[in-house]
Amino acid sequence: VTVYVPRDSAARSVGADEVAGRIAEAAAAAGRTVRLIRNGSRGMLWLEPLVEVATPAGRIAYGPVTPEDVDGLIAAGMLDGAGHALCHGPTEDIDWLRDQTRVTFARVGVVDPLSAEDFIAHGGLEGVRRALKLTPEETVAEVTESGLRGRGGAGFPAGIKWKTVQQAESELKFVCCNADEGDSGTFADRMLMEGDPFTLIEGMTIAALAVGASEGYIYVRSEYPDAVATLRAAIATAYERGWLGSDILGSDLRFDLFVRVGAGAYICGEETSMLESLEGKRGMVRAKPPIPALEGLFGKPTVVNNVLTLGSVPMILADGAKAFADLGTGRSRGTQVFQLGGNIARGGIVETAFGVTLGELVEGYGGGTRSGRPVRAVQVGGPLGAYLPTSRFELPMDYEAFAAAGAMVGHGGVVVFDETVDMAGQARFAMEFCAAESCGKCTPCRVGATRGVEVIDKIVAGENRSANLVLLNDLCDLMTEGSLCAMGGLTPMPVKSALEHFPTDFATTTEARR
Ligand code: NAI
Ligand code: SF4
Repeated sequence: VTVYVPRDSAARSVGADEVAGRIAEAAAAAGRTVRLIRNGSRGMLWLEPLVEVATPAGRIAYGPVTPEDVDGLIAAGMLDGAGHALCHGPTEDIDWLRDQTRVTFARVGVVDPLSAEDFIAHGGLEGVRRALKLTPEETVAEVTESGLRGRGGAGFPAGIKWKTVQQAESELKFVCCNADEGDSGTFADRMLMEGDPFTLIEGMTIAALAVGASEGYIYVRSEYPDAVATLRAAIATAYERGWLGSDILGSDLRFDLFVRVGAGAYICGEETSMLESLEGKRGMVRAKPPIPALEGLFGKPTVVNNVLTLGSVPMILADGAKAFADLGTGRSRGTQVFQLGGNIARGGIVETAFGVTLGELVEGYGGGTRSGRPVRAVQVGGPLGAYLPTSRFELPMDYEAFAAAGAMVGHGGVVVFDETVDMAGQARFAMEFCAAESCGKCTPCRVGATRGVEVIDKIVAGENRSANLVLLNDLCDLMTEGSLCAMGGLTPMPVKSALEHFPTDFATTTEARR
């Protein structure tokens, strides 16, 4: 019997390795032969470690399983898919999963991440094979028509970026994947790299063919050692299979791919800092222009895309631009992989078409708070995203709708806070975070963030409160307008949204706080 226990680091952090070991021992003791597959996570993190057993009726899910549960589960017939208090029935029928539209994550949790056979059996390489039949111009047009926008946060149209690189004249061009997933509350890049690394390799290869690049780099944050190991193993397999290197897939084209590990700086997720770091220098932001598409890595034309952007490309090529563009709303086409975290009952990965509302994600999929107290605030788009109150739960997840509400979708992180949250403290944290992570190149961010912490402290302490509130707003405007990159430029967003939606939290302790 085939049993699946995730190798994803979220599952491992709650004991998946021990559970897998115990299943192997207990099955052997019961005289059963078990084929244990260490798959990626299905993304239902509250059920991890989630054990699945293959049966003629499909895969049956059990979770969360502890090592101590294993003997009882096997005695109850888990290896034959029998019922149990921890059994959730067929995995694909769990409504949380069934209601999603998995495109980028279609194979994550389903396949063995390092099995080339499994990858091929589930549609792998169909995208790159089609790209090899098209001209580079046609591939770029396909990506443009799909409406795919950068999933790192800024939402820039991927096809337009690729076209800029394609049209740039150069002997040497690069494709760089930004896997420095630094936003708090985000983990989709990691789960894709650990759960389906061949998809990223395929997406990068398609990008390389389209723009005429011969070398690629995946820049992974050092906090993701499992992703690094999985990518390196997958790249080695891809070379063995002739999917990378010279004459890829029987063509006369060459593409070499390397993994580089960062050293733990948030700013290295900013594309130009990432390029500096890849060149072996300290991660400092470069002024734009020139844009990396024209002068990127080592000054050469470079595609810089996020993991999810490149991971969406194989499906777009395989199924056609229209299938992707048919999903979504307004100018936000396709699906987004939302990541639910913080104080939430059912945290994890929800991949669904743009247009789903914030409330559907938090209350529907997420099931409200884990503490059981009412939701008070939700931060969308990482530590530089806005805090939204429940009165904004009708907002559709859509780049433009969020921007109009003074917020941003960003990389799709959704972090939930209950009624005990202190929003002045959260605003202070945004400034503190910026002060700690600033690269120091420009004054509004380097000095402004430190002054921001001080002025928020004064407001809460009741020192010249109204004058300091004016000062804080001025400082926010200066940082927004004057910062060189999004680090300093977006830090005011959480601060201003906290002031707008939760003003009572900025009252002094002597005044009536909530
Ligand atoms: P940006 O708007 O300056 O640029 C977006 C992308 O489009 C860049 O790759 C840029 O080089 C490219 N681009 C712009 N004009 C172009 C043109 N004419 N032709 C070709 N390419 C062009 O935004 P930026 O500073 O790169 O990113 C800011 C975003 O990063 C924020 O919105 C935030 O959501 C996100 N972010 C994501 C994090 C994560 O962990 N994923 C962490 C922190 C911020
Ligand atoms: Fe560096 Fe901050 Fe200026 Fe960005 S805004 S360049 S992180 S100092």
